[in-house]
Amino acid sequence: MDGIDAIEISGNNFKKLNQPTPYFLENALKIRNKVNVPIILVGGFRNVNQMNNALEKGIDFISMSRPFIADENFVQKLKNDEESICVNCNECFEIFKTQHKRCALRKDIIHQLEINFP
Ligand SMILES: Cc1cc2nc3c(=O)[nH]c(=O)nc-3n(C[C@H](O)[C@H](O)[C@H](O)COP(=O)(O)O)c2cc1C
Ligand code: SF4
Repeated sequence: MDGIDAIEISGNNFKKLNQPTPYFLENALKIRNKVNVPIILVGGFRNVNQMNNALEKGIDFISMSRPFIADENFVQKLKNDEESICVNCNECFEIFKTQHKRCALRKDIIHQLEINFP
């Protein structure tokens, strides 16, 4: 039996705007207390303080999506204690398909992949 390496807590509530972030932290902590495998939390992390807070509360790993869509230099910005520019508008779900662009705030960057959508 291979077992489980980790559990990532995610969900689709992030599509609702103006929710407090990070999403699902309390839910993830409840699961953290019930299982003996690392917990990964994704959703709404935009600055180092949020990440440290979640890690201090017991979350093992943090993952992110939209901050990297918005800014390819996001890791470097975190090191400089800058926040993500992502405003959680969720335009990236559609504009990649229609315009091959990644982020609504970054009209300068065109996705590099050559993909033909039906
Ligand atoms: C363009 C886009 C595509 C995504 N596709 C998936 C997917 O296929 N499966 C999935 O579980 N989550 C998907 N997600 C959700 C992300 O993994 C993540 O849970 C969500 O964006 C919240 O994290 P964030 O605030 O760091 O972006 C997608 C997110 C974006 C922005
Ligand atoms: S399109 Fe909106 S939600 Fe997506 S990465 Fe850019 S700012 Fe964030």
